[in-house]
Amino acid sequence: MLNPKMEMELNKQINEELYSAYLYQSMAAYFAANNLNGFAKWMDVQAAEEVNHARKFYHFIIDRMGRVVLEAIEKPPLEWDSPLAAMEAALKHEQHVTGRIHFLVDLAREVKDKATEVMLNWFVMEQVEEEASVDEYVQMLKMFGGKPQGLMMINREMGKREDD
Ligand code: FEO
Repeated sequence: MLNPKMEMELNKQINEELYSAYLYQSMAAYFAANNLNGFAKWMDVQAAEEVNHARKFYHFIIDRMGRVVLEAIEKPPLEWDSPLAAMEAALKHEQHVTGRIHFLVDLAREVKDKATEVMLNWFVMEQVEEEASVDEYVQMLKMFGGKPQGLMMINREMGKREDD
């Protein structure tokens, strides 16, 4: 049985992950509208990955005989000032998600829920990867994104991302 507070916060995490998917899908649409199809592809794959994160929490709650409760998903922004601004917003969002995952780990320890703690280990490491991959593009954009050729190079690179 899940501790009620743990169950509530795991449910909240489903919403956080689905909002992440919504945010990145909106970023994909923003990039597509600006003819940056490589950026759009990268964000499209990222959005699908976030849905999978939400599904991991969903199945975990059910496996623990908890009750999944789906709440409304917040509307994401439609536009960003530049590709760099969008990628910086993505990085900031990932940092927020990392904070949420760490909070969940602390809560699992507090309520002595070993299974949740072990399940969350995967997410702790996933967040390291998520932040690093977004930060790599933020740094590239800062270095080369100011020039059309630089932006096109990054666009080509991002377009190589494979579907998960
Ligand atoms: Fe599911 Fe990008 O954190």
